[in-house]
Amino acid sequence: MAHAAPSGTVAAIPFLDLVAQHRPLEEELVAAFRRAVATAGFVGGAEVTAFEKEFAASVGAAECVGVNSGTDALRFAYQALGLRPGDEVITVPNTFIATTEAITQAGGTIRFVDVDETTMTMDPAALAAAVTPRTVGIVPVHLYGQPADMDPILAVARKHGLWVVEDAAQAHAARYRDRPVGTLGDLAAYSFYPGKNLGACGEGGAVVARDAGRLEPVRQLREHGQSKKYFHETEGFNGRLHAIQAAFLRIKLPHVESWTEGRRRVAARYRDALAGIAEIEVPVEASYARHVYHLFVIRADRRDALQQHLTSERIGTGLHYPLPLHLQHAYRSMGLGEGTFPVTERAATRLLSLPMFPELADSQIEQVADAIRRFYRG
Ligand SMILES: Cc1ncc(COP(=O)(O)O)c(C=O)c1O
Repeated sequence: MAHAAPSGTVAAIPFLDLVAQHRPLEEELVAAFRRAVATAGFVGGAEVTAFEKEFAASVGAAECVGVNSGTDALRFAYQALGLRPGDEVITVPNTFIATTEAITQAGGTIRFVDVDETTMTMDPAALAAAVTPRTVGIVPVHLYGQPADMDPILAVARKHGLWVVEDAAQAHAARYRDRPVGTLGDLAAYSFYPGKNLGACGEGGAVVARDAGRLEPVRQLREHGQSKKYFHETEGFNGRLHAIQAAFLRIKLPHVESWTEGRRRVAARYRDALAGIAEIEVPVEASYARHVYHLFVIRADRRDALQQHLTSERIGTGLHYPLPLHLQHAYRSMGLGEGTFPVTERAATRLLSLPMFPELADSQIEQVADAIRRFYRG
């Protein structure tokens, strides 16, 4: 959820500026579109296969299968790992609902555990305490671009024979103890929604596998369960990656490293510029992490008033996420009331995402920081 500028005005500092990212790539993007029109290659095909190879290599994964969205990637990953009705999957309540709706849609049951206060990612101790005989899998979410603390999570998985799917939708190029995320669990799901750190010009996603030979079920699920044309092993989905999106992604992929460095520069500047404001906390990069700052999320006293103040100064902001999943109407039947996950619940009332994109200028960062300082001095 992002706050736009007051109606009729353009944000002086947008929350996200994709136009700035696309401007230097415009000729290449348009040429890719022309190629697709000229060859009438729109869905699947050579562009998709080439992107899958290049993306797997960039992550250090054995294999990659491109799909229609990050949500498809999660659902296909869970199904490929054999999720069955009655099976429980453990994840966190402070994530986008795609992480969990894909569990239910794949036939499983969601079991939430709270997050670590500092990193806002899965608390490994809470995970260890939540495993039951029905648990089959764990889905750590590398939220905001910060990897979850994977070693203790993987230890719990090994101890109980559980699979692990990393939700890496917000964490392209992030690293955990110098290992790339996406290769730590059995499978990982990525989103290429336009605003992500690697975004298509439309929907897109991918499943990657650490080991070779595990993605055939995903390949089938994305294409109506077929093993070859019109021969269906199971029912599946229309979940293919479009060739045009794969072509756009191939143009953007080589820039992800420099964009990530840009995001890290912006985060470092924010840290300096916001230093000494007692009413806010800036995000902490865990000692084990290369945080890729998909989002720069502060926690703030009087958060709602601060957000309104920034909106009035034409500074775009967002809330990720305003209502924890266990308190959503969609999950009322779980019967998890307020107080069940105190770390997530308290954070939801305080968190505020500031403008974050690689091209954000130092002067714009100063402007945001000055606006925040003025609000608290007010
Ligand atoms: C943590 C997380 N998981 C999954 C998704 C789903 O990705 P998509 O929007 O590509 O379906 C998102 C996208 O917002 C996300 O942020």
